[in-house]
Amino acid sequence: MSKQEDFRGFPLRDLLQMRTPVYLYDMRLLDSTLAEINRLTADDHMTVHYALKANGNPEILSEIARHGLGADVVSGGEIAAAVSAGFSPQDIAYSGVGKTDEEIRLGLECGIGCFNVESVPELEVINELAGEMGKTANVAIRVNPDIDAHTHKYITTGTADNKFGIGIEALDQVVKLALNDMKHVKLHGLHFHIGSQIMLMEPYSMLCDTVNDLLDHFEQQGISFDSVNVGGGLGIDYDDPDGHSIPNLEGFFGVFKNKLRLRHGQHLHFELGRSVVGQCGTLIARVLYVKQSRDKRFVILDAGMTDLIRPALYGAVHSVRNLTSDEHDIETYDVVGPVCESSDVFAHDCRLPVTKRGDLMALCSAGAYGESMSSRYNMRPQAASIFYRG
Ligand code: LLP
Repeated sequence: MSKQEDFRGFPLRDLLQMRTPVYLYDMRLLDSTLAEINRLTADDHMTVHYALKANGNPEILSEIARHGLGADVVSGGEIAAAVSAGFSPQDIAYSGVGKTDEEIRLGLECGIGCFNVESVPELEVINELAGEMGKTANVAIRVNPDIDAHTHKYITTGTADNKFGIGIEALDQVVKLALNDMKHVKLHGLHFHIGSQIMLMEPYSMLCDTVNDLLDHFEQQGISFDSVNVGGGLGIDYDDPDGHSIPNLEGFFGVFKNKLRLRHGQHLHFELGRSVVGQCGTLIARVLYVKQSRDKRFVILDAGMTDLIRPALYGAVHSVRNLTSDEHDIETYDVVGPVCESSDVFAHDCRLPVTKRGDLMALCSAGAYGESMSSRYNMRPQAASIFYRG
């Protein structure tokens, strides 16, 4: 047993008894993050929707719903999960370029607050299905603002090359179509989302300029919107999770509060995923073997890319810690998983205290897009999850 007694308030003695890999969630940190979000958006005219895709674990969802956030969903499965976790249907916003008829019907049936519409054909289908069901669908048009969020190309969503949203050049026509020709939809807003893991505030500032220009532009034509949804994407500090366990929420909300020129009565929506849950989750794994090859020393874990795919998919770097080594000497290792893929690597040339079979390792900042992107590849079982409060 190491001199360290606990990992972020969780006794290592207990952790050592657990079957690994396991997702460990610090619910006290989640609560503090949510309290901070609520403090910064206490005005009546703001709603933060939690993006379920970041982590759909029912325990996490219920906790977030209890704090009064809305939900941002991208599938029928997420609509159902949000409703059963206690999110109010009116506070559910539904995005996605490929909503199926069945999913749209489910959204209408549940009375969700908003469909973020990503194309004209989708708008037509929503109108038709709502008509058949004798309902009116609340919609916002998802605008592709052509802003580069300076993040990984797989998680940039707001440039003209991306499949998301409707380009500004086509917006006039689509807004008029929705307002004049669609009897079963009510257009109440514009929606934007420029990408994910955004650390600089500049892209958000550019987004505010675009939103302001569009609101002016439509106002000149006598068109006003009840709501503006600026999406999410705020990044977290993967290098220093303990130093920045709560992300720069103040800076993020501050940009919009200072720069957006909302009209009287206009409601502002956000959709945050990673920044809500990213730092509260850690993937705990055991060292199966330490293997020396000709040129490298490998630490082979019982967790792999099936449990946390971000390093393999995006080259993401999660801080790796050895929780139980007592060694003072440092070695350089590649930390890998057991899956039959060369990309199943968590960290290259990672400096760790001398590590041996049986040591417990932490892969930090794994609360967002960890468990939710896990798979059963190689017929591996899904990692369990545990929740604790300090
Ligand atoms: N709203 C929409 C329409 C989105 O597409 C997303 C994320 C969000 C909100 C929430 O973004 P967040 O605040 O979590 O950045 N799997 C990738 C991230 C994909 C994000 C997809 N869309 C990763 O592991 O980095």
